[in-house]
Amino acid sequence: MKLLVTGGAGYIGSHVIRAAQAAGHSTVAIDNLSTGVSNRINCPLIELDLASPGAQGELISLMKSENFDAVIHLAARKQVGESVQQPEGYFLDNLGGLGNLLLAMRATNLKSLVFSSSAATYGMPDVESVSEDESPKPINPYGQTKLIGEWMVKNAQVWGLKGVNLRYFNVAGTATKELNDTAALNLIPIAIRALKNSEAPKVFGADYETPDGSCIRDYVHVADLAEAHIRAVAYLDQEQRPFDTFNVGTGNGASVFEVLQALRKASGENFAWDVQGRRAGDPPRLVANVTRIEQTLGFTTKFGLEEIVQSAWDAS
Ligand SMILES: NC(=O)c1ccc[n+]([C@@H]2O[C@H](COP(=O)([O-])OP(=O)(O)OC[C@H]3O[C@@H](n4cnc5c(N)ncnc54)[C@H](O)[C@@H]3O)[C@@H](O)[C@H]2O)c1
Repeated sequence: MKLLVTGGAGYIGSHVIRAAQAAGHSTVAIDNLSTGVSNRINCPLIELDLASPGAQGELISLMKSENFDAVIHLAARKQVGESVQQPEGYFLDNLGGLGNLLLAMRATNLKSLVFSSSAATYGMPDVESVSEDESPKPINPYGQTKLIGEWMVKNAQVWGLKGVNLRYFNVAGTATKELNDTAALNLIPIAIRALKNSEAPKVFGADYETPDGSCIRDYVHVADLAEAHIRAVAYLDQEQRPFDTFNVGTGNGASVFEVLQALRKASGENFAWDVQGRRAGDPPRLVANVTRIEQTLGFTTKFGLEEIVQSAWDAS
C-alpha cells in the first residue's frame, strides 16, 4: 500500500515509516519539522504545517497526485505542561491540523485513517487496567485535543471514513540510535537525562497505594507501537466496520522504582534517586487492558521493560 504519514519525521513517526517499509508499503511523510528531524527517514518528505491556512489545498493536490491508500496521522504537539500554558495553540495545531487533513481526505475520497491518540484521554481512572469502554475524562488540554480528535475521526463516518484511534500508553525505547526520542517527556528519557547531567533522577511521590508506593505505568516499546499501526492499516483495508479504538500497551505495569532499577542495570551505575512529593494530575496506576487489540488486530508486544530501558540508554 501507499501510505501518507504525518509527523513522519518525529520519534514515533520515523519508527512507523520504518515498520511500514519493512512490511512492503511505500511511504510519503509530511512534517513541519517543529520537533521532527528530517534525516531520521529515507522517504519523500513534504515540509508542511498541517494547521496553516494553505494546508488543505496543498494536501488535496498531494493526495490527488499520489493516490494514497491510507493515512497515519501522528503530527501533533504533545507536551502536557505546555498545553496547560498554551491551550489555544494546542487546539489550533492538533485539531486544526486534523480538520484540514479530514477535509482534504473527504475531497479526494481517501477513506482510511489511523489516528494517534493517547492514554491521556482517560485522565485519572481508578481501575486495575483501563479498557477502551472506560469513560474518557482528560484532565489537560493535550488530552482533550486527543479525545476531540477521536470524535472527529468517528464523526467522519458520515462520509464513509474508516478510522482507527490508537491510544498509546507510555512510549519509550528506540529501534536504532538515530530514531531515539529527542524530547525528555516521560520517566525513562527524563531519568537518563538526569544521569547524564550527574543528577539524581526524581521520584514524584512514594506514598501511593501501590506495592512499592510509586506510580505505575504501562511502558510500550516504540518498535512494538509502530507495528500496531501496520496492523491497523491492514485491518482498515479489510474490515467493513468503519471505526474502532484500541489501547496500545503491554497490559503490564511497571512502577517508577522498577524502571529506575532497570536503568541501574542498563547503565551499570548504582545511582541514587531523589524522592519528592506527589505531582498534581498523576494517577497512581495507568495500565492498558489490551484484550481488544489482541483479539481484533492480533497484536502483542515483543519487548519488555528491560529492552525498552536498555535501548534508550544505549542510544543516549
Ligand atoms: N511519545 C508518547 O509517549 C506519545 C504518547 C501518546 C500519544 N502520542 C502521540 O503520538 C504522536 C507522535 O508523537 P511523538 O512522540 O513522535 O512526538 P514528536 O514530537 O517526535 O513527533 C511529532 C511530529 O509531528 C510534527 N508536527 C507537529 N505539529 C505539526 C503540524 N502542525 N504540521 C506538521 N507536522 C507537525 C513534528 O515536527 C514532529 O515531527 C503525537 O500525536 C503524540 O501526541 C505520543
